[in-house]
Amino acid sequence: MDNIPWEELFATATQARERAHAPYSQFRVGAAVLYEDGSIVPGCNVENASYGLTLCAERNAVARGVMDGRRGLAAVAIVADSAVPCTPCGMCRQVLAEFATPAVPVRSRTLEGTEAQYTLGELLPHAFGPSFL
Ligand code: THU
Repeated sequence: MDNIPWEELFATATQARERAHAPYSQFRVGAAVLYEDGSIVPGCNVENASYGLTLCAERNAVARGVMDGRRGLAAVAIVADSAVPCTPCGMCRQVLAEFATPAVPVRSRTLEGTEAQYTLGELLPHAFGPSFL
């Protein structure tokens, strides 16, 4: 998709981050997913006292998008309070790949505004997909 509204995506991700439930790590993450129809869906991380049940911001946004009837991802923005921009975890990369082509851009920013950008294909080369099934 041309003309990705990155500032709107990062503003949405920053707002979503405020909603994070991260009492165990204190590491709050916000995400915003742009869909091919132009809609933007936010997500935040949701931790659990049973730590392994933690839901990352990116997967939360994707799940919410599915619930809204959305599928095709066009871009992903992530915001976290890390020293350098954080990348999505491996589980989130695989979940993003379910609904995105390898060309989909993923950008991450720190609270200070330092930015890193990737494609999903760079983050998850040789992804597992439905062609193997
Ligand atoms: N986390 C995310 O939400 N997204 C990422 O991209 C990296 C990690 C969350 C999971 C957990 O709540 C906290 O950050 C620390 O790992």
